[in-house]
Amino acid sequence: MKAMVVVQRNGHGELVLEDVPDPVAGEGQVAIRMEGTAASFGDIEMRRGNYHTPRKPPVIPGHDVVGTLVALGPGTAGFRVGERVAAISLTGTYADIVVAPAAITWSLPAEIDTISAAAFPTNGVTSYNLLTKAGRLAAGESVLIHAAAGGVGTTTCQLAKLLGAGTVIGTVGDESKVDLARSLGCDHVILYRTEDLSSRVMSITGGKGADLILDSIGGSVTEQSLACLAPWGRIVACGKSSGSAGQIPTDLLHAGNKSAIGYSTGGHRYTRPEALRPAGDAVLGYLRSKELRMVVNAQFPLSEANAALDLVASRKSTGRVVLTNS
Ligand SMILES: NC(=O)c1ccc[n+]([C@@H]2O[C@H](COP(=O)([O-])OP(=O)(O)OC[C@H]3O[C@@H](n4cnc5c(N)ncnc54)[C@H](OP(=O)(O)O)[C@@H]3O)[C@@H](O)[C@H]2O)c1
Repeated sequence: MKAMVVVQRNGHGELVLEDVPDPVAGEGQVAIRMEGTAASFGDIEMRRGNYHTPRKPPVIPGHDVVGTLVALGPGTAGFRVGERVAAISLTGTYADIVVAPAAITWSLPAEIDTISAAAFPTNGVTSYNLLTKAGRLAAGESVLIHAAAGGVGTTTCQLAKLLGAGTVIGTVGDESKVDLARSLGCDHVILYRTEDLSSRVMSITGGKGADLILDSIGGSVTEQSLACLAPWGRIVACGKSSGSAGQIPTDLLHAGNKSAIGYSTGGHRYTRPEALRPAGDAVLGYLRSKELRMVVNAQFPLSEANAALDLVASRKSTGRVVLTNS
């Protein structure tokens, strides 16, 4: 099959189109002919050679797939070859054929289009689990969502409101993203590169702080976020888009009855995929009822995956960037 494979040239990673062997579906796994996938921040890390993954070279990036089932491993009752599905994969999705656990493969209703379906798996499952399992959102609580106009962010803002959040505050890197974040449910949008994040959140929440903070940025943004976390609040570490891990002083946690939690959809994928299924089921329900939409503002053919990842890395993309394979 054809796949976009990471090669290291002159000290940096690049994707090149190569012929590689087809992956084979094992016990409890399905093989999918890929029609669409997402170009996400984690793929930039994989292109750089940094991503926390057990995949061995030749590394093929990508986690999300929409397409048609072409083979079923043993123990995959309920699926049929030819069926249209979306999944979180085990093998790289920048490829013609992708293998995924059946536990995180979803049959797609006809009303969900291919581009939305390509954006759905990681966005939907991650956003839902960040708010519910990891973040334990209670009705009426305030939520601070970093990178609110990004791939995961645009889904999380909508889901926060659907799940009963009170005040939803989003952060964005520049003015051009403010209207989008507001349109998806943010009551307040903070330009966190220029405004004082913690004092703005304290002022919006009447001096209490945010009950739940979803921190995909790390570095100094974690420090500023902790300064505006409410007593009994939770901060969920879910990424480090800044390039640096955040530091969390434990004395600040115990003194304020605050919690710091880590969450990774990718981490679940290899060890306990079945734990991700309820989140995907719930999000598909919201997509079917049209209460939720996947925001996709850029599409590229798979052969232009480098340009797609450059766009995400530039901070100019909004919503999910999708790659298509014809
Ligand atoms: N834990 C999980 O299960 C899980 C799953 C999926 C993704 N993630 C993480 O969630 C985050 C968002 O992922 P995504 O794929 O949806 O990406 P994305 O939000 O579409 O793109 C990343 C965004 O991060 C912001 N950002 C802040 N500092 C940045 C920097 N130094 N360089 C580049 N971008 C920076 C930018 O938004 P602004 O310009 O508006 O700040 C950028 O648009 C990433 O950290 C990713 O690793 C975690």
